[in-house]
Amino acid sequence: MNFRYSLNLKEEGIKMKSKYVDLKLNMDLNRIKEAAMYIKKGKIVLFPTETVYGIGANALDEKAVNKVFEAKGRASDNPLIVHIANIDMLNNLVQGIGEIEEKLINNFWPGPLTIIFNRKECVPNNVTAGLNTVGIRMPSNKIARKLIEFANLPIAAPSANISGRPSGTKIEDIIEELNGKVDYILDSGIVDIGLESTVIRVIKNKVHILRPGKITVQDIENLGIDVIVEKQIMEECNPKEKVMSPGMKYRHYAPNTKCLLIYSDNEDKLIDRINEEINLEKNILVLGKTSHLDKYNTNSKLDMGESLEDISKNIFTLLRKVDSYNVDLVVIEGVKSEGLGLAIMNRLIRACEHNYIEVN
Ligand code: TXA
Ligand code: MG
Repeated sequence: MNFRYSLNLKEEGIKMKSKYVDLKLNMDLNRIKEAAMYIKKGKIVLFPTETVYGIGANALDEKAVNKVFEAKGRASDNPLIVHIANIDMLNNLVQGIGEIEEKLINNFWPGPLTIIFNRKECVPNNVTAGLNTVGIRMPSNKIARKLIEFANLPIAAPSANISGRPSGTKIEDIIEELNGKVDYILDSGIVDIGLESTVIRVIKNKVHILRPGKITVQDIENLGIDVIVEKQIMEECNPKEKVMSPGMKYRHYAPNTKCLLIYSDNEDKLIDRINEEINLEKNILVLGKTSHLDKYNTNSKLDMGESLEDISKNIFTLLRKVDSYNVDLVVIEGVKSEGLGLAIMNRLIRACEHNYIEVN
């Protein structure tokens, strides 16, 4: 299957304008070393992490970081996450690591958790978008780790996508929008998690969740730490309102087709409500759980998978597909906003631009 994909790129006649290496069958360390040399030289590299693909640059090189902003078309007031491979790198970049941060690091790094720290002077202004804080994450993905180790540099990397689009979870989804805009592409197939990292900041001994992800509220509370979920995670942001994380205020993940998110704790009510919608509108596409699909009175439906892990892994690819169906409305099944479900709902509610119905 993986092998077919490499063929597909050629079959589909996609002319590679960036250097492309397929690591799916063989994790060729020499190629990762070569990509690391690109980073050292101030070029930008598309690489996998366990959450989503990233577009990386030497985090200490302001010019290289600018290329990332350009490639993505990203607003300059939205800071980047810096990826590290060891604690020495962390100590070089930040100051004032508290007890709670240490606990989080010991329990969740390497892994899908970004921690906001006070930054040191050496971090360029464009990485932090002028803030005095910097978001740091130690990824667990082996290729990401090797890339950082071989470059021996911290790597600033936002998700791999044009700003506003869903993050890239496999190269097929993003090749058209990023081909030629990055210098080097490391392809390792579909990522593990499929949603971006949990972003947190510790304030007065409490963990504030700025973006939910695979590391959940419960995971952090289990360490005996108090957690506050920022309300802006599920609400619409007033553009003038102060937000704790600039990313909260941007339009994100939304397809061009109008989307409606529907959720109920009661499965039958959820399915009934979606069928009502199908009966009203002729040209509709449903995104639903595998076990629900044959209950919908329409042929246009896409399978989100069954578990929260499946949905998390599939959802960005599905959101990228819906426009090609040329429907009037996409109806998406919601999930319970708990555990990984909070991260899924946070992305879906944005994809639907807060067009959301909860059925009691
Ligand atoms: O899983 C991930 O986090 C992926 C992979 C590539 O590591 N990266 C990612 O980066 O999702 P990006 O740039 O797409 O999202 C970073 C988010 C943005 O919402 C940004 O506003 C927030 O983190 N952020 C970064 N630095 C921050 C800071 N100093 N204070 C508050 N929020 C920050
Ligand atoms: Mg992003």
